[in-house]
Amino acid sequence: MTDVVRVDAERPDRAAIRRAADRLRDGGLVAFPTETVYGLGVHALDREAVRRLFAAKGRPASDPVIVHVAAREDLEPLVRGVPDAVSALAARFWPGPLTIVLPRSAGVPDEVTAGRDTVAVRVPAHPVAQALLVEAGVPVAAPSANLFSRPSPTQAAHVIVDLDGRIDMVVDGGPTLVGLESTVLDLTGAVARVLRPGAVTVEMLRAILPRVETSGPEAAAEDQAAGMASPGLLPRHYAPRTPLLLYGGGDAALPALLRDAREVLATGRTIGLLALEEDRKMLGALDAPPSRMHVVTLGSVGNLEGVATRLYAALRELDAAGLDLILARELPVTSGLGLAINDRLGRAAHEHRTC
Ligand code: TXA
Ligand code: MG
Repeated sequence: MTDVVRVDAERPDRAAIRRAADRLRDGGLVAFPTETVYGLGVHALDREAVRRLFAAKGRPASDPVIVHVAAREDLEPLVRGVPDAVSALAARFWPGPLTIVLPRSAGVPDEVTAGRDTVAVRVPAHPVAQALLVEAGVPVAAPSANLFSRPSPTQAAHVIVDLDGRIDMVVDGGPTLVGLESTVLDLTGAVARVLRPGAVTVEMLRAILPRVETSGPEAAAEDQAAGMASPGLLPRHYAPRTPLLLYGGGDAALPALLRDAREVLATGRTIGLLALEEDRKMLGALDAPPSRMHVVTLGSVGNLEGVATRLYAALRELDAAGLDLILARELPVTSGLGLAINDRLGRAAHEHRTC
């Protein structure tokens, strides 16, 4: 039912892109790679298609989706006025993993914005996404191409697992580079505010804009109570089905994790471990057979890009292993990309242990 078309990530086949673009213009649901994660695209101005998109993902209608366009110039019809800050941000970060929230124009359907007065817009950098947007010639609404509340897909295979038979087409351009969803920056308030941290880091934004606020857990809770800001940023959003215990607290986290892992193994249960390269030696001391303990390594904390790229595939792998419990620790970094990685780990966690 779902057509899967393989294309070269750098030089996608024109005919394949034309077919995908035709499908999009006709109201079809087409998954495609962006540099962050795979998106599930539909014609953003086709209300019926957007409704089908929400149904296919099982996404609540209250959670607005990002509109993707080929270039900065395509922004105007979607928004009411373009603040000065956008030019500077676009010049530096577009195309790329930055989404900007602005007051929306009347042309954007309520289905896209969940009835809000704002719209989130992004210009993706991936050559396949670029080719598709140029060929389609319409704005494309695209959430991540996963079932609601599953980890975002970083490979076409993840899209198929979640959505086979529910969507029209998958353009398979291989694994995505960044591995985490775009940074979402809200420019509708008095001060710019990061609603979702990502590969365009707060530090990078502050180099362009004098003031950028972040939404800490308290701010997010307040917003949720008031029904504002980013409704999709639920405290638990990317959760695996297997319960995940997340250990915070810096240096104390790993010893606490090991102690608990030993206890759980002693009761005969099976565990999965989301590990850093640096943890492997200590984890070796657990000495459990592979049938009881499944370790996935994210790479070194010295290479956060690599950790981000692997995170969602690792969560899916551990989840598919049918274990009783997954144990992970927060990264011992709170700036740059570390902020985004810890944010996603936090949302994937069923329980937090601060050590
Ligand atoms: O990297 C990405 O952003 C990927 C790729 C496909 O572009 N897309 C993605 O979309 O992650 P999605 O729908 O999974 O996440 C969009 C986030 C949600 O948290 C949503 O609530 C927020 O952006 N959002 C969308 N429109 C918004 C708006 N008008 N105001 C505030 N937040 C908004
Ligand atoms: Mg998503």
